[in-house]
Amino acid sequence: MKTILYEHLERPIYNSDLLDRLDPKKFITRYCLNLSPSNPGPGLKVRPLKTSDYETERFSTMELCPNSYYITVIEDTIINKVIGTGTLIVEQKFIHNCAVRGRIEDIVISDEYRGRQLGKLLIATLTLLGEELKCYKVSLECKDSMVPYYTSLGFRNEAGNSNYLQIRFPL
Ligand SMILES: CC(C)(COP(=O)(O)OP(=O)(O)OC[C@H]1O[C@@H](n2cnc3c(N)ncnc32)[C@H](O)[C@@H]1OP(=O)(O)O)[C@@H](O)C(=O)NCCC(=O)NCCS
Repeated sequence: MKTILYEHLERPIYNSDLLDRLDPKKFITRYCLNLSPSNPGPGLKVRPLKTSDYETERFSTMELCPNSYYITVIEDTIINKVIGTGTLIVEQKFIHNCAVRGRIEDIVISDEYRGRQLGKLLIATLTLLGEELKCYKVSLECKDSMVPYYTSLGFRNEAGNSNYLQIRFPL
């Protein structure tokens, strides 16, 4: 009997076909961006995080939660380096007829690549991914100073529903 070993194969954290399904026109009309996942700029590539980027036990744990972790990176393919990352987490609910909602987390662009609209490209990509995955809403938390940035990308403080409370625990 032939045993097939999959362990050596590169594994993305989600199916990259999903990115191909995003309509490039929406990046222009909704976000006034000339960039899109299929056209992020010379030498750059937008793709799911994959095992060779960050193969850890945590990666494997996330893989075991299908349709949940959409960690998306921008790679500089000239130097084979990840230069930006952002995550859409999709939560499965019982409410709203077993709906799903999205949360955007961990948006970072490397210092040398900032100011090229790559942060906006990532956030637009993750938001449209949330829409494609039929999330009824996508939310995020941010520093006060970043509110104008996210407002420019369509996120809104809702009247009577704009508090964010937390308790921190020492690790
Ligand atoms: C925030 C961050 C992702 C922006 O990435 P970027 O690719 O440089 O941003 P873009 O090129 O898409 O957008 C540039 C715009 O964002 C604004 N901006 C960038 N960082 C900002 C900050 N910390 N506070 C307020 N505005 C900011 C710029 O002033 C610029 O405004 P303009 O379009 O009016 O000129 C990047 O600065 C970063 O990685 N910061 C550290 C991590 C972080 O703070 N993440 C967000 C957590 S909520």
